[in-house]
Amino acid sequence: MTKHLLSAGDLSREQAIEILDIAEGMSNVNDREIKKLPTLRGKTVVNLFFEDSTRTRISFEVAEKRLSADVINFSAKGSSVSKGESLKDTAQTLEAIGADAVVIRHSASGAANVLAHSNWIQGSIINAGDGTHEHPTQALLDAFTMRKRIHGAQSPGKALDGVKVAIVGDILHSRVARSNQLLLSTLGAEVHFVAPPTLLPQNASGFKAALHYNLDEMLATEKPDVVMMLRLQAERMNASYFPTEREYARIWGFNAGRLGALKDSAIVMHPGPMNRGLEIDAVTADSPRSTVLEQVTNGVSIRMAVLYSLLSGERSADV
Ligand code: CP
Repeated sequence: MTKHLLSAGDLSREQAIEILDIAEGMSNVNDREIKKLPTLRGKTVVNLFFEDSTRTRISFEVAEKRLSADVINFSAKGSSVSKGESLKDTAQTLEAIGADAVVIRHSASGAANVLAHSNWIQGSIINAGDGTHEHPTQALLDAFTMRKRIHGAQSPGKALDGVKVAIVGDILHSRVARSNQLLLSTLGAEVHFVAPPTLLPQNASGFKAALHYNLDEMLATEKPDVVMMLRLQAERMNASYFPTEREYARIWGFNAGRLGALKDSAIVMHPGPMNRGLEIDAVTADSPRSTVLEQVTNGVSIRMAVLYSLLSGERSADV
């Protein structure tokens, strides 16, 4: 793998499968009583979060600690960023501290690329979500979750050839959708975006995904193996994209009726955090076919695999 992980599109099919295979080994470590490897002993990883997060931030921290790295958590709130310090000065401060890797989440699309291509910091940069642009480790954990459900927990070397994935809802503001269409198509899956026209980007035809504007029709005709519901990102909306939340839930929300219309083997995913009752109802979110919590668990193994791939050099994972 290259020095940084900025985009899901940076990964070749072989590299993506290798990360999923390493994550399988890490998942075995996470099932042990002592969930710890010495792999990153002596390495310093900084979690640089300029935007709120629960899952990504916690799972990166757990992953780093399970690999024995020294971990520094930096939140823009409570730091000198709130006094006006720039990204450049913040990055140079981290360089002076001796960071080997920086995991960055930022509201600005391209922030991770700016750090990676600057000379402010020499370590590896991992994109933990930049604006509406990309969230590559989310796409990796989603692919890992699909592979485990479809091919079984131990399926080294397997991809997602022919798996039909419907990604539904607020595509316009979703870095998860952007990263997933790149990675899933690399792994051989067939991606379908399903959304009202107002919540699709203007350049949506350029994505590696078929476009649909009617959820029930799409479910009936395509019979997807995976339905990935997206959070409505109210915090990024600066206009009215649908008449009312009630109408959105009725036309675009996943509910018990739509769950019943899926084929028996199909799963329902959501990256979290969920707006229960809006894009997904409680019956679906809590059903055995929902992978919401599995995705969180798998996120730790995937982030261990990514950190291992970027930082371990020739050291053995000893899994
Ligand atoms: N899926 C995801 O990125 O969740 P957080 O915003 O809680 O990290």
